[in-house]
Amino acid sequence: MNTEILRRKLCVLGKIYIMIFTHVLNMDLVKNDFLEFIKKRRSIRSFIYQKIDKNTILSILECARWAPSGNNSQPWRVCIVTHPTVKRMLSELTKYGGIIEDAYVNFVVFLDLERGYDRVKDIQAIGAFMQNILLGVNAQEDLGAAWIGEILNKKEEVNEIFKFPKDKFELMGIIAIGYVDEARAKVQQKERKRRVLDEFIEWY
Ligand SMILES: Cc1cc2nc3c(=O)[nH]c(=O)nc-3n(C[C@H](O)[C@H](O)[C@H](O)COP(=O)(O)O)c2cc1C
Repeated sequence: MNTEILRRKLCVLGKIYIMIFTHVLNMDLVKNDFLEFIKKRRSIRSFIYQKIDKNTILSILECARWAPSGNNSQPWRVCIVTHPTVKRMLSELTKYGGIIEDAYVNFVVFLDLERGYDRVKDIQAIGAFMQNILLGVNAQEDLGAAWIGEILNKKEEVNEIFKFPKDKFELMGIIAIGYVDEARAKVQQKERKRRVLDEFIEWY
């Protein structure tokens, strides 16, 4: 074979090798970034008043839409609340009302009982849905969120606000979302402890 052709072939092979190598390296970086992304999420309970545009709200819901659910039943229903009067009505039903009022938007998440088919699996699906909302918020620059479960103590009153019959929709929680008030959030940040793995895993 002509040495020039051989040289060109080796050159092409070298380039392909470099491309594969950098691709694998990038995949590793992406994987690590994703782990960090999950670990860095934290509850945010202090917001500044700033509008969140509709496309951003929709892109967070788009994340939630892809949550897994048993039988792919997708048993969720969400009221998106930005109206101050509705926020006020919700805030009066929980000791965490200040967070709800400060947040620009609140996602009030219900289990759609007619779409559900197995109580445990339906609630697990809603948990995955709500976690996807938190991750979707985290993916947006400067936005933060808090999951408000305490309001479940007044779930029937929440149904009344939206005129949702209680045999059709069951409140699962609220996610308050807003632009992070960095100064206040830092001051209020509790130490976020997690149990060490050995405390809750068993190998077989
Ligand atoms: C089911 C559930 C209910 C929660 N309810 C509340 C609540 O009512 N008020 C609140 O401030 N945080 C609430 N949280 C947030 C937790 O307090 C928070 O996730 C936990 O302390 C860990 O902190 P981190 O989210 O910053 O990692 C709730 C979280 C979950 C998953």
